[in-house]
Amino acid sequence: MDNMNQIVNEAMKRIKNSDIEMLKIVKSEYLGKNGILTKILKSLLHYSIEDRKKIGFEANKAKTILESEIEKRKEGFKKALLVQKMQKEKLNFSPIFYFPFSKGSFHPIVQTMQDMILAFKSLGFSIAEGPEIETDWYNFEALNIPENHPAKDVQDTFYLDGTERLLRTHTSPGQIRVMEKLKPPLKVVVPGRVYRNEASDASHSSTFHQIEGLRVDKNVTLLDLKIILTKFIHIFFCYEPCIRFRPSHFQFTEPSAEVDVKCLFCKGSGCRVCKNLGWIEMLGCGIVHPNVLKSVNYDPELYSGYAFGIGVERIAMLKYGIDDIRLFYENDLRFLKQF
Ligand code: DAH
Repeated sequence: MDNMNQIVNEAMKRIKNSDIEMLKIVKSEYLGKNGILTKILKSLLHYSIEDRKKIGFEANKAKTILESEIEKRKEGFKKALLVQKMQKEKLNFSPIFYFPFSKGSFHPIVQTMQDMILAFKSLGFSIAEGPEIETDWYNFEALNIPENHPAKDVQDTFYLDGTERLLRTHTSPGQIRVMEKLKPPLKVVVPGRVYRNEASDASHSSTFHQIEGLRVDKNVTLLDLKIILTKFIHIFFCYEPCIRFRPSHFQFTEPSAEVDVKCLFCKGSGCRVCKNLGWIEMLGCGIVHPNVLKSVNYDPELYSGYAFGIGVERIAMLKYGIDDIRLFYENDLRFLKQF
């Protein structure tokens, strides 16, 4: 019996000082098949019944104590491992990771677009949007652009392979989508991105942005169009730049016009920005063609309307004195940070 106490004390010491591997060895030395306590329990047969009871009781008690001690130690190791793992995987959110980044700002095209939309809102227009992938009907046919029109050439239009679908070449299909949904009177602008199959240079890009405007009501005239565009230009530029209306041609308006602004940089004497013309072309517009109204089942005898399409990049270039459209798409931070 004295021996038993000694065995337990020694085992406890070894358990306390062991690492994971050692713990396995200690366990098998005491409790394994040939372990000390197992052997004692097996040897009980050789004792008298009385001794058997005593020694059996003590040996089983020792076994229970050691088993529970070993289990405790094992749990301790498991916990320590888990803590170690969590510390390794912990993400560091200390401020050093985000302070060096600046706040960022809107792209000049987004800013210009938002300013333009605000100006039109203040003039009573609502805002609508249309899809960038359009059908031939919305982009051309409904806008009175016939089958053989040069704009439909693959040179100008990105057709989606083997389908009737295409990337819209202007925001004008937005007019058709709005008129299909609403009845006159209506007054909306449709901002969006458009695509043209052309090589880029200082004033052309295969992707750019437009804002389409449309008003349909009874007795809308060319004068209403001139008034609204003049007001827009004054609101947007915060002063009264000199503008002119020049006769032009678009399939979906009759009569049609283009609006030029006197170059803000040379005041009309000619410079790099206006390509020595003194004027910068800003938008196309006109009175909605009766065929366009018919295509959405509006009665052209009852209703008339005006429409316009403004190039957003053009306006941004004009406002900020930028002479190369490609600067907007190169994402050079030295350029973008100025806005
Ligand atoms: N869609 C024309 C273009 O992309 C611009 C335009 C001209 C729109 C006259 C209009 C308009 O609504 O009336 O060149």
